[in-house]
Amino acid sequence: MTSDVTEDLWLFGYGSLIWKPPPHFDLRVPGHVEGYVRRFWQASEDHRGTPEAPGRVVTLIDRSHWETLTDQHSDAPPTTWGAAYRIPGPHVAEVREYLDIREINGYSIQYTPFHVSEAFNATHDLPAPINCLVYVGLPDNPQFMGPQDLDSLAEHIVNSRGPSGENKDYLYGLDQALVELGEGSEDEHVHDLARRCRELEGRTSKDDDNQTETSIVGSELKRLGSTDEQEEIEK
Ligand code: BEZ
Repeated sequence: MTSDVTEDLWLFGYGSLIWKPPPHFDLRVPGHVEGYVRRFWQASEDHRGTPEAPGRVVTLIDRSHWETLTDQHSDAPPTTWGAAYRIPGPHVAEVREYLDIREINGYSIQYTPFHVSEAFNATHDLPAPINCLVYVGLPDNPQFMGPQDLDSLAEHIVNSRGPSGENKDYLYGLDQALVELGEGSEDEHVHDLARRCRELEGRTSKDDDNQTETSIVGSELKRLGSTDEQEEIEK
């Protein structure tokens, strides 16, 4: 017997999805995944750069593959923090169609166990772990850049922009959003790059507090009802 009822979809965001939620979510959950390393190693031709001058956005690298590479940031936390979104069954087809556009520019779909933050689950009692869909730019995709010299990468980010705005604002937005996820959520790769970019700009992080691009209003995420209203999701 088949059923017409579509199950809820859980989606894990580790990039801009953390502060720019997908449409139709009814729950946003802070937490982490394991077995990956987050790096600014994916070229962006469609959001924070152009085909002529691609910017840089994050991807997840399989930790066992990352360990074979030479990375100037030679440490990485054992967990990658982000936000999981629950999309109710009746909206899954629409949201999947909308999100799958993200496979353009190199991203593929994987599923991975997501661990809800202890602080959140103290009041919610969600099952753990939750199987989440995640978009990953694999090493064989044409946009995958591999290990980057950190000074050159910071300079590249400061000088890049695309249809979704300044590349550096994506970096600053991610750095800020990670801090807000909870204890243990910081990512030194992201934070150090943000520091290098601010230094290049001659700005202090205090100046930047007033300028960080975000869809978080106060402590509330801006929730938009339909994909028409939602700003296009980016990496
Ligand atoms: C994100 O986690 O924000 C994301 C990553 C890759 C593609 C789309 C979104």
